[in-house]
Amino acid sequence: MWNTIRSNWQLVIIAAVVGIVALVEMAKVIRPSEKESPLTTTTDSSWVTPSLFTDNELQGAERELVIYGEDIIANTARYFGPHGSVAAITNGMNCQNCHLNAGKKTWGNNYSAVYSTYPKFRDRSGGMESIYKRVGDCFERSLNGTAPDSNSREYQAIYAYIKWLGKDVKKGERPVGSGISKLNYLDRAADPVKGKAVYTAQCQSCHGANGEGQLSLNGVSYEYPPLWGEHSYNDGAGLFRLSNFAGYVKSNMPFKQATHDNPKLTTEEAWDVAAYVNSQPRPKKDLRNDWPDISKKPFDHPFGPYADGFSESQHKYGPYKPIIAKKEELAKKK
Ligand code: HEC
Ligand code: HEC
Repeated sequence: MWNTIRSNWQLVIIAAVVGIVALVEMAKVIRPSEKESPLTTTTDSSWVTPSLFTDNELQGAERELVIYGEDIIANTARYFGPHGSVAAITNGMNCQNCHLNAGKKTWGNNYSAVYSTYPKFRDRSGGMESIYKRVGDCFERSLNGTAPDSNSREYQAIYAYIKWLGKDVKKGERPVGSGISKLNYLDRAADPVKGKAVYTAQCQSCHGANGEGQLSLNGVSYEYPPLWGEHSYNDGAGLFRLSNFAGYVKSNMPFKQATHDNPKLTTEEAWDVAAYVNSQPRPKKDLRNDWPDISKKPFDHPFGPYADGFSESQHKYGPYKPIIAKKEELAKKK
């Protein structure tokens, strides 16, 4: 028996590989709707984050680039903040403030599905977007600044890092826990007054009474990033949509206390605190070219004109269910 196996070891390995592939395929589920691209599927196998410690294939210049890219995501302000060593082109936040653990955390807005799903068509711009364009969007909106040159070593490093993070994810797939979790909708509008109470009790100790955050002792980057005011993300950023803010916060805040499976806020509290924070003053972006097809605006995009007749206020705070029902009805008529 052992002799046979030993002499046929190549066959044994092939059989094992085929078996594993079959199991992985069986473990997949396809989640319909809600995703931007109908070609995208969600796998229910969790993403195994690549590790620099175990990845022996990543060598030489490419390895250096990936390491540099991870550092830029984690310490963006050091390179691109108001005191940045490469250029002063951002508000001083780090990518990692919103893409936790350098974009590796499950339900922490991670990058597992970026390399597998880009380039893709996005309704916000009404065109095909490369990874470069998507990264540039966060520089211009979340970091309220300008994007670095696509030929720069820094941009190449960010790209190499995002590619490496997604290297084991099949084209077109989004692992479970990628991006931001989607919360159930309330039957009422999210309430900034209730949200203020949540903020005072659960967020203010770190993010400050005026949402200003707190700089580190070095004065270069934030210990606690700002949530509103002149150094925060602008009104064209993903977090300015209440669904993104509430979903991100419920899975991740208060920092190091909440987890996706063990949140500290209820769903209502998450929506209400999102309403409070996103009612405070913040930088504005010229958004006239966003969503050239207005019927494609997300239900919680707070700026008209709209194809559905609902007000800006209802789009911003909800209740969202009537908006979503109307959107489906209009889509059927097309
Ligand atoms: C203030 C929070 C915030 C900061 C800071 C931030 N982002 Fe984002 N980013 C988001 C949100 C929210 C989304 C998802 C937006 C959506 O779904 O509409 C996102 C999406 C992305 C995506 C697409 C993810 C996907 O799966 O499609 C990439 C890539 C990205 N960001 C890169 C970056 C980089 C690089 C930086 C730093 C230069 C950065 N982000 C800084 C909030 C932020
Ligand atoms: C114990 C301190 C602490 C508490 C309490 C806390 N946060 Fe945070 N928060 C952080 C830190 C630190 C980060 C950045 C994480 C990183 O860079 O790794 C962050 C990031 C964020 C971000 C994304 C970055 C930004 O500035 O926009 C949001 C949004 C946020 N917190 C909202 C909240 C809300 C809402 C609450 C209350 C429910 C809260 N946080 C409570 C420490 C805290």
